[in-house]
Amino acid sequence: MCGIVGVLGHHEAAPILVEALKRLEYRGYDSAGIATVENGALDRRRAVGKLVNLSDLLVHEPLAGKSGIGHTRWATHGAPSVYNCHPHQAGPVAVVHNGIIENFRELREELSAAGYGFTTETDTETIALLTQMYMEAGDAPVDAAHKTLAKLDGAFALAFLFEGEEDLIVAARKGSPLAIGHGDGEMFVGSDAIALAPLTDEITYLEEGDSAVLTRTSLEIRNADGALANRAKKKIAIDSAQVDKGGYKHFMAKEIAEQPTVIGEAISHYLTQDGTDIALPAEIDFTKIDRLTMVACGTAFYACMTAKYWFEQLAQLPVEIDVASEFRYRDPVITKDTAALFVSQSGETADTLAALRYCEGKAEQILSVVNVATSSIARESDVALPILAGTEIGVASTKAFTCQLTVLLILALKAAKDRGTIEDSRYQELLTELRALPGIMNHALTIEAVTEKISRKLAEARDILFLGRGVMYPLAHEGALKLKEISYIHAEAYASGELKHGPIALIDKKVPVVVLAPRDGLFDKTVSNMQEVMARNGKVLLISDSKGLMEGGEGTWEAIAMPDADPVLTPILYAIPAQLLAYHTAVSKGTDVDQPRNLAKSVTVE
Ligand code: F6R
Repeated sequence: MCGIVGVLGHHEAAPILVEALKRLEYRGYDSAGIATVENGALDRRRAVGKLVNLSDLLVHEPLAGKSGIGHTRWATHGAPSVYNCHPHQAGPVAVVHNGIIENFRELREELSAAGYGFTTETDTETIALLTQMYMEAGDAPVDAAHKTLAKLDGAFALAFLFEGEEDLIVAARKGSPLAIGHGDGEMFVGSDAIALAPLTDEITYLEEGDSAVLTRTSLEIRNADGALANRAKKKIAIDSAQVDKGGYKHFMAKEIAEQPTVIGEAISHYLTQDGTDIALPAEIDFTKIDRLTMVACGTAFYACMTAKYWFEQLAQLPVEIDVASEFRYRDPVITKDTAALFVSQSGETADTLAALRYCEGKAEQILSVVNVATSSIARESDVALPILAGTEIGVASTKAFTCQLTVLLILALKAAKDRGTIEDSRYQELLTELRALPGIMNHALTIEAVTEKISRKLAEARDILFLGRGVMYPLAHEGALKLKEISYIHAEAYASGELKHGPIALIDKKVPVVVLAPRDGLFDKTVSNMQEVMARNGKVLLISDSKGLMEGGEGTWEAIAMPDADPVLTPILYAIPAQLLAYHTAVSKGTDVDQPRNLAKSVTVE
């Protein structure tokens, strides 16, 4: 997490750094800071809270210089105070850092013993102090930075700026992504290409263990062994419009509304032109495997949880799912008859990436379903399947979730066809339903007005429960997660049938219970569970299609009518009310929808 940028340019660096940080704010927004070098002197400005606080500070205390580095922080070591803000400076060097230095306590001891004192609680300060120590012992800036890098354990993306050096940045990557941007006699560094999009579309991605020495006209990259390395320069197409709110009040609102379009794009990408078959961009042979292991975090994990139902029901393929932070440390047994599939919007989530690396050489094939096609997870997979959601800025994932589901459903259908477990007529029927899905999603968005009205009441609750059965059970989890992360209301999800085994004790007239119940084969059972809640004065919000509401909706507190759809597709469709309820509840409460407290979009620490 945290976002870092660096500029060796022809214009004043401060406004360029702030603009680039704006595009990285999704990586953390506890504090922000920049440092520049002007007439040989290093100087910095730092402010706690959102980037706007740093911009305000720069109005009163401008910072000159055409070379600089910047940082937007998601706090790991040390509270978000000005002292702990990056850039961290020690004598002639300033450093910005994304990641965690695991051996920082030992490094602190070593530095203390050498007579260096500390002014912050951060792990990053040790990097600046080590570099200062080497420079004071006579090393040139680049050598001092390289010696420092050799001492660091953990995950990092770093940029160093030096006193007296207006044409030099040293950058390094280990575990956290870093992109170098090539300008016209200018050079840039950024945590991702999006940050650099207005500056350049020519990007070189550093690889694991790489370090780079940048000047305005040169780039020298060394690999983990210190040998010179050749890394390709790529043209990256990033539409600047994608990082604009486009007239919506929040990115999240825009991203919810975009779903019919982006899902349509994903469907066309994976279906043949006539729409009657699936054409994957690379060969995946589902007859070669007997098991699928799916690993992800957060919302992406709930996409995996949903896909488990699809792969098992449609393709009769046994599926194991796990959250990446557990998977990577439980010594999971991965046999050669297993394909391992990793789902990640950012493609940089540290736990998911580590889980992928664990499976390398063990699984038959490493697959990934990612949004950022240039990400580490995509690059390290045998086959990376893009979800084509476009840039997702809102911290709470919406369109990436439904695009992940769409691609996973297409994969499950492909598996079913390969393994001969689906009748051709049903296969065609589901492809037809898939092609119709963007239209149905559009129709579903018309529930916005009623959701807004209900959300005003939900905003008064302290606790909210979500219930679902079958494919609606993972969605109940996703609905609860969305609500808690942006409205800060406590929400829990349960399998409808599980409620009576304990959680029903929570039910009283103050606890709204959201029941996700399309009229599928499990509808009657879910309605029975809903009745059990209503018999205990529970306030039920039933979300179903019109017939479902007619058959089971009597006596409910509130209801939302959804369009009809094939039961297989309902997790994608019913994501819309789950997202809209969270969104409007948060808006009612006046929370920061796009940048909820304590969170960051891309979690590159474990
Ligand atoms: C919740 C959310 C997170 C992410 C999780 C994994 O709205 O966005 O739970 O889903 O941090 O991130 P990715 O998909 O980038 O690996």
